[in-house]
Amino acid sequence: MPAPLVIANWKMNGSLEKNARLLNQLLTKLDTLEYLEVGICPPFPYLPQVSDHLSQSRINLGAQNVSAFEAGAYTGEVSAAMLREFGCRYILLGHSERRLLCQESNDQVTAKFEAVLKAELTPVLCVGETLEHRQRGESESVVSTQVQTVLDRVGIQGFANAVIAYEPVWAIGTGETATPEQAQAVHAQIRRILAGHDAAIANQLHILYGGSVNAANAQTLFSQKDVDGGLVGGASLEANAFLEICKAAHPGTHFDL
Ligand code: PGA
Repeated sequence: MPAPLVIANWKMNGSLEKNARLLNQLLTKLDTLEYLEVGICPPFPYLPQVSDHLSQSRINLGAQNVSAFEAGAYTGEVSAAMLREFGCRYILLGHSERRLLCQESNDQVTAKFEAVLKAELTPVLCVGETLEHRQRGESESVVSTQVQTVLDRVGIQGFANAVIAYEPVWAIGTGETATPEQAQAVHAQIRRILAGHDAAIANQLHILYGGSVNAANAQTLFSQKDVDGGLVGGASLEANAFLEICKAAHPGTHFDL
């Protein structure tokens, strides 16, 4: 199993001043966590600023969205090649806020996934059910379809350098978290789908949990067998909370940061 992975999703938050302060508080401490991979996904305009800060660090840069297209008349869009030029490694795809607010479909998310692979970057495919789905007992089928649509198009090899983030929509930004058992059940299901095609790829794939991860609940969530780290929104904007979450993901961390 690779080292755990924690990705910060800043969403539409930050300013030049706030970002600099947060990064100064985080970076030297995060670099001491040797067996942890960390990514930070700021809003697009701050990519050069964050990239500069990360240049001497082990932390990877990421972006929150990408166009499915390579170039051309797509006003307001940003291509995977452009994100690569600015040093991005991780690209979030299909975040529920984009699925809901921008009506991104599984097909569009799949096209973006392909664009990210073509640019040799790492897609972070976000999947998850709404509260209505869960209440109707449809969590498994919704998540399966979200994964399967991409799998059908890119094949299992497309997941050899990818990350999946399970983020139940009802747990995002609500303070309500999936129980460790609920998270584990869906993570295991995702891994089973992929293992049906290639066990080695399924076993080395990071499956992150996201949705109100905080300093208090991170440890129990990350201790689940198929939870390989987290995708963290709100708590990633606060240095101490994010450091605690990273510590919780780091195997055998018993030291003060
Ligand atoms: P949250 O967001 O941690 O604020 O719930 C997670 C996410 O949307 O990626």
